[in-house]
Amino acid sequence: MTKTTKDSCENLTLHLPRLTAADRERLFSHKPFTIWLTGLSGAGKSTLAFSMEKLLVDSGKPAFVLDGDNVRHGLCKGLGFSPEDRSENIRRIAEVARMMNEAGVIVLVACISPCRLQREQAKLTIGEENFIEVYLNTPLSVCESLDPKGLYRKARAGLIPEFTGISAVYEEPVAPSLVIDTSQKSISECLQEVMGKAESWWLKNSDRHR
Ligand SMILES: Nc1ncnc2c1ncn2[C@@H]1O[C@H](COP(=O)(O)OP(=O)(O)OP(=O)(O)O)[C@@H](O)[C@H]1O
Ligand SMILES: [Mg+2]
Repeated sequence: MTKTTKDSCENLTLHLPRLTAADRERLFSHKPFTIWLTGLSGAGKSTLAFSMEKLLVDSGKPAFVLDGDNVRHGLCKGLGFSPEDRSENIRRIAEVARMMNEAGVIVLVACISPCRLQREQAKLTIGEENFIEVYLNTPLSVCESLDPKGLYRKARAGLIPEFTGISAVYEEPVAPSLVIDTSQKSISECLQEVMGKAESWWLKNSDRHR
């Protein structure tokens, strides 16, 4: 992994953009934000994020999923699951989310993101006011019984080291915007709840840049 040091920025000049986020909000007539879905593997993060993306895009709003599995095929290729690599993984996702928000796109992050500190750092990168943390607190027993990718079975057999919930810790969010136990509701009910959060965020922030 390339290490970023203070010196690596020494000869770089930060260019100030001519357009601000507020200009783009006016242009596109909507305000972007990031919904950060966190929770155990199998809790339903990808399912909800991709359903919400479809719903938003169908209603004319630009939205994009940054999925934990997908980014590891490109943006985060080569990163493993050590604490350092997980941290770098979240840092990259948060930087991309910030840029996409600035470009006017609603971002839906679906990533286990088990460490509280890393999620807090992501919130700072993206901007507290644009960051909606959604915690899927579906019990481990349910996620493990669903095991949509067969990962729990492999982890229990010792084939996957540092697997969240089994051999690596998941730190619950302290004050998430929304908590959903996906085992208690249908996918469409969960989707409605997350969309409800987005709607109230828009209402609350509708005058922010006017
Ligand atoms: N109410 C619900 N909301 C979301 N998913 C649900 C719900 N009920 C059942 N499921 C099922 O749970 C599974 C969740 O898998 P999904 O891949 O979305 O989890 P994930 O949190 O993205 O896991 P990973 O961290 O491994 O990527 C899917 O098979 C989905 O159909
Ligand atoms: Mg997923």
